[in-house]
Amino acid sequence: MRNLAGVLPDVEIAAITPVIAEIEALKKERRAVVLAHNYMTPDIFHGVADLRGDSLALARMAAETDAEVIVMAGVHFMAETAKILSPEKTVLIPDLRAGCSLAESITGADVRLLRQRYPGVPVVTYVNTSADVKAESDICCTSGNAVAVVESLGADRVIFLPDQYLGRWVASQTDVDVILWHGSCMVHERFTAEELRSYRKDHPGIRVIAHPECPPDVLAEADFVGSTAGMISWVEKNRPPRVVMVTECSMSDNVAAEVRDVEFVRPCNLCPHMKRITLAGIADSLRHMRHEVKVPAAIAERARRAVTRMLEVRP
Ligand code: 13P
Ligand code: SF4
Repeated sequence: MRNLAGVLPDVEIAAITPVIAEIEALKKERRAVVLAHNYMTPDIFHGVADLRGDSLALARMAAETDAEVIVMAGVHFMAETAKILSPEKTVLIPDLRAGCSLAESITGADVRLLRQRYPGVPVVTYVNTSADVKAESDICCTSGNAVAVVESLGADRVIFLPDQYLGRWVASQTDVDVILWHGSCMVHERFTAEELRSYRKDHPGIRVIAHPECPPDVLAEADFVGSTAGMISWVEKNRPPRVVMVTECSMSDNVAAEVRDVEFVRPCNLCPHMKRITLAGIADSLRHMRHEVKVPAAIAERARRAVTRMLEVRP
């Protein structure tokens, strides 16, 4: 077991020690790894994750690991992306209800209609989508590489799906014209510019860093905008005395446990989908080898092209 001292209260560590020990034993027995997104709770993030990161890092790790089983401590599209990249591996998600408001905002049929409406315009699709939508796309992106991916195409115009706010952020960083869809993240769209101004007023000198899924007026108030991994690197590098991470709230808990000289002001917008994943759920998943994520071969093959093309773009 990792050292959770100082990350969680002693009484909580004592309570979860048996389940962590069981997960570790099952990982060995099943030749499994736990991949954890930065939004997982600290008991998962610091207690049982073998590999941790943002969506881009998790996709790369899924493609590279030699484990036989991947347990995705994240949401469904992340597990699907892992399966698309590693079809020979068993990919498990502890709770099938761990979805994403962005992934729900668009279907493969919507993409086909957009292609009819804008013939010849390439389709760039955020990984927060179903395999079906990825299969209809030219290339995928994450919040960590979206600008580089859009510019890699050498086109004057792209269709950017499905996050309208990430799309607008990309448009503000490039000369390429961006055609938007109307999707949004139910967690990040709740932040307001007024709220960010109040952090600055209440905590003079605070640095405000935000995820690009936030609305444009929120991003305009931020000192830095980046993916979850980009935000973590920014804090590790700049070591501001005080910071607010304008994103899902478990991330501050995870980073605060490792960057102890920085004070974190913690607004709490939880992602209900990410929070479906629990330590007990991970144990159950490994015990019973459930829930296996499968992607039909024909869809997986087309989706793999779009994801692999993304992985070849280096920001
Ligand atoms: P990142 O790729 O920045 O980790 O974002 C994933 C996500 O779901 C953000 O809400
Ligand atoms: Fe989807 Fe938003 Fe939750 Fe990320 S935080 S999984 S984008 S709903």
